[in-house]
Amino acid sequence: MAASVEQLYLHPLTLESQLFLNSLEAYGKIYNQIDPNLYDSLTNVLIGIEKFLDQKPALIVATDKTKFVQPKELAAIQNFYHCTLCKKDLGKTVDKAAIHLAEGHRVKTAKEIKKEKKQAEKIRSESKLIKLPKKAKAIVMSDFAKFFADQLQVAEKLKQVPEYDIIENSLSDMLKKVFPDKSIKMYKFGSRITGIGTRNSDLDIYVDIGGRFNEFEHGASAETLKIFDRVHDIFKKNAIDWCMNRAIRGARVPILRMTNTRTNIECDVGFSNSISYCNTQMLEYIYQQQPIARRLCIFMKKWLERTRLNRHITTYCMSLMVIYYLQINNFLPSIETLQKNMLANVLVGPWIGNFIEIPLTELKMQVLSVSPPSCKQHIKEFCIYYANFNYESHVVCPYFGRTHIKIKNFESLMPERYTNFVKSEDSAKDSGIQLNTAMVVQDPLEMNHNVAERATKVDLKEWQDFLKQSAMLL
Ligand code: UTP
Ligand code: MG
Repeated sequence: MAASVEQLYLHPLTLESQLFLNSLEAYGKIYNQIDPNLYDSLTNVLIGIEKFLDQKPALIVATDKTKFVQPKELAAIQNFYHCTLCKKDLGKTVDKAAIHLAEGHRVKTAKEIKKEKKQAEKIRSESKLIKLPKKAKAIVMSDFAKFFADQLQVAEKLKQVPEYDIIENSLSDMLKKVFPDKSIKMYKFGSRITGIGTRNSDLDIYVDIGGRFNEFEHGASAETLKIFDRVHDIFKKNAIDWCMNRAIRGARVPILRMTNTRTNIECDVGFSNSISYCNTQMLEYIYQQQPIARRLCIFMKKWLERTRLNRHITTYCMSLMVIYYLQINNFLPSIETLQKNMLANVLVGPWIGNFIEIPLTELKMQVLSVSPPSCKQHIKEFCIYYANFNYESHVVCPYFGRTHIKIKNFESLMPERYTNFVKSEDSAKDSGIQLNTAMVVQDPLEMNHNVAERATKVDLKEWQDFLKQSAMLL
C-alpha cells in the first residue's frame, strides 16, 4: 500500500483575521478611544465580512489528504510595514506605521539622497581603517594624571645626569688622542636635552672638531667623512668603555651609534650637525614657554613608539607638528617671528640657528593649563587636526606658523637665504626641499629639509587611521 502524502491548507484570510484580532486586542487596551475614521473603518470591516459570507463561499473540510494549519502555528507570523512612497521600512508593529502616516510622507530630495550615499561611503571606508594597535589604545585610555606625573619626573631628571659628564669626558679623551692639534667641543642635543626623553632614549652628541660649528653640509662633505672614518676606526679597535653598535656612514648626517659601557647609555655621535643643537635649544625654549607643548610631545612620542610609526616618523618631526598645531591656534609664535629683529644671527651656513626669547605674554598669547583634562583635550584636537590634514597639497610649516601653506609655489614663499642657497649649490645636488613625498613637514631652521621625507603613503594612512581612532577613544 502506497503511503499517503498529507497536504496542509490555510486560507490567507484566516491569517489576516488572526493578525487583525491580535492588533484589535492589543491596541484596544492601549488606546481605548474611537474617532469617526476608526468607526467607519470598523463598520467597513463588518460590512466586508458580511459581503464575503453573503457570496456563500464553498465550505471545505479536512480530509485524509488535506489538513488545516493549526491556529497555534499562526502566532509565528508577523507583519512587516514598509512605506512605498518614502521607500522606508517602518518595523513590525503598526504604531510606527501610524506615526509615520500621522507625520506625513517625506520624499527625499536629490541632495538628501546624495548626502546619505556619501555617509554610507564614509562608513564603508572607515570600516577599512587599519586598527590601532592594542598597546597604543592602552595609553590613549590610560590615566593621564598618572601618565604625566611619571613621565615628566623621568624626563626632567634626564635633562642633566652625572652620566653625561662621564660620557663627554671619555669621548673627549679618546678624540684628543686622534686629533691632538684640533679644538674639540661637545654639544648634547635630542630628546634627553629638550626634556621629553625616556630611559631608553639615546644621547645625541654633535662633536665639533676643528671649529666647524658654523658650517652647513647638505650631505656629508669629504672632510666630515674623513673625520668619521678615523673616529670609527679607533672606537672599533681599542676604545675602553665604548662598544660600537653601528656606523651609519651613508646618512645625510653620518652617525656612529655606540654604547658607553660605564653608563650603559647608547650615544649617536655625529660631526656635522650643529643645526640639531640649535633646534634642540629652540624646542627646549618652546617647552618652557608653553609647557603643554612638552606634555603633548611626551605623549605623542610614546604613542609613536606604541604604534611603531616611530620607524618612519621621527620624534623631531612629531614635535614640529605639535608646535605647528599650537601656532595655528595662536598659542605659540611662528619661528619667523622669533627670528625677526635679532641683534646678531648665529649662522650655520645659510641658516639662522638662534632666535629671540620673548615671553608669550609679551606676544599677547595665553599660557595653557597643563591639567590632565586640558592635556587630554589638546591631544584629542591634535589627533583630529592631523587625521584630517590635507597632506597632498599642504605643508606643515612651523616657520610661518599659519594655515593653508600650499605645496604648490611653496618655494616662492621662502626667504632669500633659502633661494640664494638653492641657487648657489651645485644643481646636480638638488638642494631644495623635497616636496614630492606623502607628507611635507618643513624644518623651521634648516629650511631645505622635509623632516617627514621618509614617511610613505602607507605610513601616512596608518598615521591618519590611528589618529582618527585615538581621537574617538579620547
Ligand atoms: P630624533 O627624532 O632622532 O630623536 O632626533 P629624539 O628627539 O632624540 O628622541 P628619541 O631618540 O626617540 O628619544 C634627535 C635630534 O636630532 C635632530 C633634532 O635636534 C632632534 O632633537 N633632528 C632629528 C634634526 O635636526 N632633524 C631631523 O630630521 C631629525
Ligand atoms: Mg635621541
